[in-house]
Amino acid sequence: MTFSTNSFKQIVRRLFINLPRMADSNFAQKRVAYRSNDDLFLEENLESKDPIKLFSSWFQNASECSDVRQPNAACLATATKNGIPSARFVLLKSYDEYGFTFYTNSCSRKGRELEENPVAALTIYWDPLNRSVRIEGPVVKVSESESNEYFRTRPRSSQIGAHVSHQSSVIPNRDTLKKLTENIIMEFENKDVPRPSYWNGYKILPHNIEFWQGQSDRLHDRIKFVRSELAGEYQSVCKLGENGWAFYRLSP
Ligand SMILES: Cc1cc2nc3c(=O)[nH]c(=O)nc-3n(C[C@H](O)[C@H](O)[C@H](O)COP(=O)(O)O)c2cc1C
Repeated sequence: MTFSTNSFKQIVRRLFINLPRMADSNFAQKRVAYRSNDDLFLEENLESKDPIKLFSSWFQNASECSDVRQPNAACLATATKNGIPSARFVLLKSYDEYGFTFYTNSCSRKGRELEENPVAALTIYWDPLNRSVRIEGPVVKVSESESNEYFRTRPRSSQIGAHVSHQSSVIPNRDTLKKLTENIIMEFENKDVPRPSYWNGYKILPHNIEFWQGQSDRLHDRIKFVRSELAGEYQSVCKLGENGWAFYRLSP
Protein backbone atom coordinates (compact mmCIF):
# COMPACT_ATOMS: atom_id res chain seq x y z
CA MET A 1 0.00 0.00 0.00
CA THR A 2 1.34 3.46 -0.86
CA PHE A 3 0.34 6.75 0.72
CA SER A 4 0.22 10.14 -0.92
CA THR A 5 2.03 12.89 1.00
CA ASN A 6 -1.36 14.36 1.91
CA SER A 7 -2.80 11.19 3.36
CA PHE A 8 0.43 10.65 5.28
CA LYS A 9 0.10 14.15 6.71
CA GLN A 10 -3.49 13.39 7.68
CA ILE A 11 -2.45 10.24 9.55
CA VAL A 12 0.29 12.12 11.40
CA ARG A 13 -2.19 14.88 12.26
CA ARG A 14 -4.70 12.33 13.58
CA LEU A 15 -2.10 10.52 15.64
CA PHE A 16 -0.10 13.37 17.06
CA ILE A 17 -2.42 16.36 17.03
CA ASN A 18 -5.99 15.17 17.47
CA LEU A 19 -5.33 12.34 19.90
CA PRO A 20 -3.51 14.34 22.58
CA ARG A 21 -6.35 16.87 22.50
CA MET A 22 -8.88 14.14 23.22
CA ALA A 23 -6.63 12.68 25.89
CA ASP A 24 -6.10 16.08 27.53
CA SER A 25 -9.75 16.41 28.43
CA ASN A 26 -9.65 13.01 30.15
CA PHE A 27 -6.31 13.12 31.87
CA ALA A 28 -5.41 16.67 32.76
CA GLN A 29 -8.10 16.96 35.43
CA LYS A 30 -7.21 13.75 37.23
CA ARG A 31 -5.86 14.70 40.66
CA VAL A 32 -5.72 12.84 43.93
CA ALA A 33 -5.10 14.15 47.41
CA TYR A 34 -1.76 13.11 48.88
CA ARG A 35 -0.72 13.77 52.47
CA SER A 36 -1.73 16.73 54.55
CA ASN A 37 0.67 19.38 55.78
CA ASP A 38 0.78 17.94 59.28
CA ASP A 39 2.25 14.72 57.87
CA LEU A 40 5.54 15.91 56.40
CA PHE A 41 8.67 13.90 55.70
CA LEU A 42 11.34 15.90 57.51
CA GLU A 43 15.07 15.48 58.00
CA GLU A 44 14.72 15.63 61.78
CA ASN A 45 12.21 12.75 61.78
CA LEU A 46 14.06 10.32 59.50
CA GLU A 47 13.62 6.79 60.87
CA SER A 48 17.25 6.19 59.87
CA LYS A 49 20.03 8.19 58.23
CA ASP A 50 21.11 5.02 56.44
CA PRO A 51 18.94 4.81 53.28
CA ILE A 52 18.97 1.01 53.26
CA LYS A 53 17.45 0.99 56.75
CA LEU A 54 15.03 3.75 55.77
CA PHE A 55 14.06 1.71 52.67
CA SER A 56 13.51 -1.25 54.93
CA SER A 57 11.12 0.76 57.09
CA TRP A 58 9.17 2.12 54.07
CA PHE A 59 9.09 -1.34 52.50
CA GLN A 60 7.73 -2.79 55.74
CA ASN A 61 4.97 -0.12 55.77
CA ALA A 62 4.11 -0.94 52.14
CA SER A 63 4.07 -4.68 52.86
CA GLU A 64 1.66 -4.16 55.73
CA CYS A 65 -0.69 -2.06 53.62
CA SER A 66 -3.41 -4.33 52.25
CA ASP A 67 -3.99 -2.02 49.27
CA VAL A 68 -0.42 -2.60 48.06
CA ARG A 69 -0.55 -6.01 46.38
CA GLN A 70 3.04 -6.17 45.16
CA PRO A 71 5.23 -3.92 47.31
CA ASN A 72 8.31 -5.28 45.53
CA ALA A 73 7.19 -4.34 41.98
CA ALA A 74 9.63 -1.79 40.59
CA CYS A 75 10.18 -0.09 37.26
CA LEU A 76 13.67 -0.83 35.98
CA ALA A 77 15.26 1.50 33.44
CA THR A 78 18.28 0.47 31.40
CA ALA A 79 19.86 1.94 28.27
CA THR A 80 21.97 0.91 25.33
CA LYS A 81 25.52 2.19 25.27
CA ASN A 82 24.26 4.90 22.89
CA GLY A 83 21.83 6.06 25.55
CA ILE A 84 18.56 4.75 24.08
CA PRO A 85 16.48 4.01 27.19
CA SER A 86 13.94 1.29 27.94
CA ALA A 87 11.91 0.59 31.08
CA ARG A 88 9.83 -2.29 32.43
CA PHE A 89 8.66 -3.71 35.72
CA VAL A 90 10.55 -6.36 37.65
CA LEU A 91 10.11 -7.83 41.11
CA LEU A 92 12.74 -6.98 43.69
CA LYS A 93 13.73 -10.25 45.31
CA SER A 94 16.14 -9.11 48.01
CA TYR A 95 18.12 -6.16 49.26
CA ASP A 96 20.94 -5.62 51.72
CA GLU A 97 23.58 -3.03 52.50
CA TYR A 98 25.24 -3.75 49.13
CA GLY A 99 22.27 -3.44 46.85
CA PHE A 100 18.92 -4.45 45.35
CA THR A 101 18.49 -7.76 43.51
CA PHE A 102 16.11 -8.84 40.75
CA TYR A 103 16.15 -11.85 38.42
CA THR A 104 15.76 -12.02 34.69
CA ASN A 105 16.78 -13.59 31.40
CA SER A 106 20.20 -12.28 30.36
CA CYS A 107 19.23 -12.56 26.66
CA SER A 108 16.22 -10.25 27.10
CA ARG A 109 16.37 -6.62 26.05
CA LYS A 110 17.25 -5.49 29.59
CA GLY A 111 19.80 -8.29 29.88
CA ARG A 112 21.50 -7.22 26.65
CA GLU A 113 21.45 -3.57 27.66
CA LEU A 114 22.94 -4.37 31.05
CA GLU A 115 25.68 -6.37 29.32
CA GLU A 116 26.78 -3.40 27.20
CA ASN A 117 25.96 -0.66 29.71
CA PRO A 118 25.87 -2.02 33.27
CA VAL A 119 23.99 0.79 35.01
CA ALA A 120 20.31 1.05 35.92
CA ALA A 121 17.65 3.13 37.61
CA LEU A 122 14.87 1.49 39.62
CA THR A 123 11.70 3.28 40.73
CA ILE A 124 9.05 2.01 43.10
CA TYR A 125 5.72 3.74 43.69
CA TRP A 126 3.41 2.74 46.53
CA ASP A 127 0.28 4.58 45.49
CA PRO A 128 -1.84 4.17 48.67
CA LEU A 129 1.07 5.51 50.75
CA ASN A 130 1.92 8.39 48.39
CA ARG A 131 5.51 7.27 48.51
CA SER A 132 8.13 6.54 45.92
CA VAL A 133 11.76 5.43 46.06
CA ARG A 134 14.34 5.88 43.28
CA ILE A 135 17.56 3.89 43.21
CA GLU A 136 20.42 4.39 40.74
CA GLY A 137 23.79 2.81 40.28
CA PRO A 138 26.01 0.30 38.54
CA VAL A 139 24.74 -3.26 38.14
CA VAL A 140 26.54 -6.56 38.66
CA LYS A 141 25.40 -10.15 38.16
CA VAL A 142 24.97 -12.02 41.44
CA SER A 143 27.02 -15.18 41.94
CA GLU A 144 25.90 -18.40 40.23
CA SER A 145 25.38 -20.00 43.64
CA GLU A 146 23.06 -17.16 44.75
CA SER A 147 21.06 -17.43 41.51
CA ASN A 148 20.90 -21.23 41.87
CA GLU A 149 19.74 -20.90 45.44
CA TYR A 150 16.91 -18.51 44.52
CA PHE A 151 15.96 -20.52 41.40
CA ARG A 152 15.49 -23.62 43.59
CA THR A 153 12.88 -21.78 45.68
CA ARG A 154 10.71 -20.89 42.65
CA PRO A 155 7.54 -22.88 41.89
CA ARG A 156 8.23 -25.69 39.38
CA SER A 157 5.98 -24.00 36.79
CA SER A 158 8.13 -20.84 36.98
CA GLN A 159 11.30 -22.92 36.68
CA ILE A 160 9.88 -24.56 33.56
CA GLY A 161 8.80 -21.15 32.27
CA ALA A 162 12.39 -19.94 32.49
CA HIS A 163 13.41 -22.73 30.08
CA VAL A 164 10.45 -22.13 27.78
CA SER A 165 10.76 -18.38 27.41
CA HIS A 166 13.49 -16.90 25.28
CA GLN A 167 12.45 -13.61 26.80
CA SER A 168 11.87 -10.69 24.41
CA SER A 169 12.35 -12.78 21.25
CA VAL A 170 9.56 -12.77 18.63
CA ILE A 171 7.36 -15.88 18.56
CA PRO A 172 4.72 -16.83 15.96
CA ASN A 173 1.83 -17.40 18.39
CA ARG A 174 0.87 -18.55 21.91
CA ASP A 175 0.68 -22.18 20.79
CA THR A 176 4.45 -22.11 20.35
CA LEU A 177 4.83 -21.58 24.10
CA LYS A 178 2.38 -24.42 24.82
CA LYS A 179 4.35 -26.88 22.68
CA LEU A 180 7.69 -25.78 24.12
CA THR A 181 6.27 -26.16 27.65
CA GLU A 182 5.15 -29.73 26.91
CA ASN A 183 8.64 -30.58 25.63
CA ILE A 184 10.38 -29.07 28.66
CA ILE A 185 7.99 -30.84 31.06
CA MET A 186 8.91 -34.14 29.37
CA GLU A 187 12.63 -33.34 29.38
CA PHE A 188 12.68 -32.81 33.14
CA GLU A 189 10.12 -35.44 34.13
CA ASN A 190 11.04 -36.84 37.59
CA LYS A 191 14.07 -34.54 37.74
CA ASP A 192 14.88 -31.23 39.37
CA VAL A 193 14.64 -28.35 36.89
CA PRO A 194 18.11 -26.75 36.69
CA ARG A 195 18.59 -22.98 36.39
CA PRO A 196 19.24 -22.10 32.75
CA SER A 197 22.66 -20.41 32.45
CA TYR A 198 20.97 -17.38 30.83
CA TRP A 199 18.66 -16.81 33.82
CA ASN A 200 20.47 -14.65 36.35
CA GLY A 201 20.21 -12.36 39.32
CA TYR A 202 21.35 -8.75 39.00
CA LYS A 203 22.22 -6.42 41.81
CA ILE A 204 22.02 -2.64 41.58
CA LEU A 205 24.77 -1.16 43.76
CA PRO A 206 23.14 2.13 44.74
CA HIS A 207 25.10 5.32 44.28
CA ASN A 208 22.05 7.28 45.30
CA ILE A 209 18.59 6.59 46.73
CA GLU A 210 15.81 9.16 46.76
CA PHE A 211 12.75 9.04 49.02
CA TRP A 212 9.68 10.95 47.80
CA GLN A 213 6.51 11.58 49.75
CA GLY A 214 3.60 13.31 48.04
CA GLN A 215 1.91 16.30 49.65
CA SER A 216 -1.51 17.56 48.59
CA ASP A 217 -0.28 21.09 47.94
CA ARG A 218 2.21 19.53 45.48
CA LEU A 219 5.14 20.74 47.60
CA HIS A 220 6.28 17.14 47.83
CA ASP A 221 9.06 16.01 50.14
CA ARG A 222 12.19 14.68 48.44
CA ILE A 223 15.23 13.56 50.39
CA LYS A 224 18.11 12.15 48.40
CA PHE A 225 20.92 10.04 49.84
CA VAL A 226 24.27 9.80 48.05
CA ARG A 227 27.39 7.83 48.85
CA SER A 228 29.50 10.41 50.73
CA GLU A 229 32.45 10.00 48.38
CA LEU A 230 30.18 10.74 45.39
CA ALA A 231 28.51 13.85 46.85
CA GLY A 232 30.72 16.04 44.61
CA GLU A 233 29.27 19.50 44.04
CA TYR A 234 26.57 18.87 46.68
CA GLN A 235 29.17 18.30 49.43
CA SER A 236 28.51 21.70 51.00
CA VAL A 237 24.73 21.22 51.30
CA CYS A 238 24.91 17.60 52.41
CA LYS A 239 23.93 16.49 55.88
CA LEU A 240 25.81 13.65 57.46
CA GLY A 241 24.08 10.29 57.13
CA GLU A 242 25.15 6.90 58.46
CA ASN A 243 27.28 4.09 57.06
CA GLY A 244 28.99 6.19 54.38
CA TRP A 245 25.89 8.07 53.22
CA ALA A 246 25.09 11.79 53.08
CA PHE A 247 21.75 13.38 52.25
CA TYR A 248 20.13 16.59 51.08
CA ARG A 249 16.65 17.88 50.22
CA LEU A 250 15.49 18.46 46.64
CA SER A 251 12.85 20.90 45.47
CA PRO A 252 9.65 19.09 44.48
C1 LIG B 1 4.62 -6.47 38.16
C2 LIG B 1 5.56 -7.08 37.16
C3 LIG B 1 6.67 -7.80 37.62
C4 LIG B 1 7.57 -8.36 36.71
N1 LIG B 1 8.67 -9.00 37.21
C5 LIG B 1 9.62 -9.44 36.34
C6 LIG B 1 10.86 -9.96 36.85
O1 LIG B 1 11.11 -10.02 38.06
N2 LIG B 1 11.76 -10.38 35.93
C7 LIG B 1 11.55 -10.31 34.59
O2 LIG B 1 12.41 -10.71 33.82
N3 LIG B 1 10.39 -9.80 34.09
C8 LIG B 1 9.44 -9.36 34.93
N4 LIG B 1 8.26 -8.82 34.44
C9 LIG B 1 8.08 -8.72 32.98
C10 LIG B 1 8.85 -7.49 32.47
O3 LIG B 1 8.16 -6.30 32.82
C11 LIG B 1 9.13 -7.52 30.96
O4 LIG B 1 7.96 -7.77 30.24
C12 LIG B 1 10.15 -8.60 30.60
O5 LIG B 1 11.15 -8.74 31.59
C13 LIG B 1 10.84 -8.29 29.28
O6 LIG B 1 11.45 -7.02 29.36
P1 LIG B 1 12.61 -6.58 28.36
O7 LIG B 1 12.22 -7.01 26.98
O8 LIG B 1 12.68 -5.08 28.46
O9 LIG B 1 13.89 -7.22 28.82
C14 LIG B 1 7.35 -8.24 35.32
C15 LIG B 1 6.22 -7.53 34.87
C16 LIG B 1 5.36 -6.96 35.78
C17 LIG B 1 4.18 -6.16 35.27
